[in-house]
Formats: sequence, C-alpha cells, structure tokens
Amino acid sequence: MSIQPRPDIMQIMPYIGGEAKADGATRLVRLASNENAHGFSNLVAKAYQDLATELHRYPDGSAIELRTAIAKQYDLNVDKIVCGAGSEEIISMLIRSYAGQGDEILYSKHGFLMYPIGAKIVGATPVAAEEDNLRTDINALLDQVTDKTKILFVANPNNPTGSYITDKEMRELRDNLRDDVLLVIDSAYAEYVTKPDYACGKDMVDEYDNVVMLRTFSKIYGLAGLRLGWSYCPPDIADVLNRVRGPFNANLVAQAAGIAALQDQEFIKKSIKHNAESLELVASGLDVLGIENYPSVCNFILAKFGENSEDARLFLKSKGVLIRQMGVYDLHDCLRISLGTTEENQILLETIKEYKS
Ligand SMILES: Cc1ncc(COP(=O)(O)O)c(C=O)c1O
Repeated sequence: MSIQPRPDIMQIMPYIGGEAKADGATRLVRLASNENAHGFSNLVAKAYQDLATELHRYPDGSAIELRTAIAKQYDLNVDKIVCGAGSEEIISMLIRSYAGQGDEILYSKHGFLMYPIGAKIVGATPVAAEEDNLRTDINALLDQVTDKTKILFVANPNNPTGSYITDKEMRELRDNLRDDVLLVIDSAYAEYVTKPDYACGKDMVDEYDNVVMLRTFSKIYGLAGLRLGWSYCPPDIADVLNRVRGPFNANLVAQAAGIAALQDQEFIKKSIKHNAESLELVASGLDVLGIENYPSVCNFILAKFGENSEDARLFLKSKGVLIRQMGVYDLHDCLRISLGTTEENQILLETIKEYKS
C-alpha cells in the first residue's frame, strides 16, 4: 500500500500566487501580487550585497538586531516581537499552536485565503462570516462565534477588498469576544492607510492578553521575495511561538535586509505618497471607463468587471498586463489590480480602454 496523507489534506486547494509571466508579451506590467511599485530601498540592495560572502553562516535565531530595529521604529516592546518567514508563516504557527481537529477558525468571508487553508491543514473548520458590502462586519463575526471558536482572523485593511474597519469597531469586536478566543489583527497593509480612525492594533496587543498583530516586510518595504514578517504578541503567546517556530526561520539575508529597510523611512514616505496618488488616478480612471471599483486604503483596488471578468483578465494578460483573478475569493465578477508606477498605471488604464472598445 502506498503512503497516503490524511484524507482531509487532499481537500485543500493549494494557494496560487499572482501570475508573473505572460507568454509572448514584449513588456510585462506586474500588478497581480500587491508588491511595492518602486521595489525596495537602495540600503537594502547594499545590505544584500554585503552578505554575498557570508551565506555559509547561520542567521541569529533570535533575530535580536532586527527585532530591536522593529521595536524602535514602531515603539514596541522587543520581547513581544516574533519574526517569521513571511507573516504567512506566523499565521500557520498560530493556527498550529492554538487550534486542532474539531476546532473552528473564524474569518471574514472575503478575508485572506491563508486563514481557511491554515485551518484545514490542522483539521480545524474554517468558518466565514458574511460581509457588509465587501467590508468586515463585526456583528456578523460575533454571531458566528461558538464554543469551538479558537481564533478569529481580521485582516485590517483587508486583502482583496481593500476595505478597513475603524479602531472603534475593532475594539468593540474584542470587547464582545470571549477572553479565550485569540483575535489576530493582520495589518499587512497598515503603512498605506492614511485614515485617522484606523489603528494597526499594536495598542490593543499591549492592553489585552488575547490580541496578536501581524505585520510584513512584503508590501510597503518591498521585500516579498525574501520572506520576512513579524508579530507583536502578549508575552505568553510570544513564548508559544518561540517554541513552535523553526530555530532559524528568519533567514540571514532577510534579517539584514529588514534592518536596512527600516532605516530608510524616506523610501516609505515616498511609497505612501505615490500610493495615495495612484489610488486616486486608478480609481478615477476606472470610473471614467465605467468600471465599478471598491474604495481601497491599500496598494490595490478591487474592480468589478462583471460576468466576463476572465475575458478582461486574459485580454490584459495578452498585452502583458497581469492582474489577479478573484474566483478563489468567491468574487468571480471582480479582478484585483495592484497599483504600479505612474507609467504602469497609465498602461493599465489604456489597456482596459482598449479592451472595452
Ligand atoms: C492580508 C495579508 N496577510 C498576510 C499576507 C502574507 O504576507 P507575507 O507572508 O508575504 O508576509 C498577505 C499577502 O498578500 C496579505 O495580503
């Protein structure tokens, strides 16, 4: 008899990332993975090159320099920071540590796909709460809490919808949650948000024992390829993650690149400014083309192309413009467009115009 995995593992649909290739296209405009339009800081390039002769060395397993730099930048307690190979690894570590067979993991219906996938991997049941016009609905989430609920994931702002809930709503959600349910606030896109009523969740981690905040270097810091994320946790939870994580899960180059990236806050300021301009340019461009789009505070926009959305996506792909299919998020009539450089945004809009004509 051949070796077989647990039967429920075969029910998991593998996560498929945004496309990065278009056969035959002479020019590629990659707007499918919410990456930073301007790449990464020059300081990162230097740090990366400096390590070219050191790759035989293990990284510092405690990532203390990186955690200290994060703590300084975001005004946090260094002991409560745990790093990971992308925040996606920390999502998985939290689920493996706090949930198992028969437990429930709650999330908002169009929330990040790794929450239900992570739940299924440990044999837990993912439970999706309805949204209110593609926005997290805290009452719908609370209605779905049962005795079996172990973790509630809220991406704030959310991918792929681009919407956010206010600090007040997040606190109301926590206050109405049992103390033995872990609230994970996934703030992967926090740096892009300019709304005064938004909070990334770090203060709530300091105030409550059952709140964790997740962050990433993949988005505004532009280090998606290096896989680096971090969590801010109550001490007991940090202790658990430090037992569960691989001893060298944040690699040597990623740690150095993360430190360098934090030092260049000018790059981050420029990225925030460019993103705000791009949001306006692309949203108004889509409006002019008659394509409904949802208000976003992130570095992407969800746009409703209707029942022929796949035709639109394939047309754009044939012209080398890659945007993301949304079927796996149960948003079949939508496509998600990451914001690019000003030139890329213009090419995007011109190509959509060509498709529509
Ligand atoms: C909401 C959200 N959380 C987490 C992640 C994972 O980011 P990473 O594993 O690259 O840190 C993503 C990536 O797209 C995301 O959109």
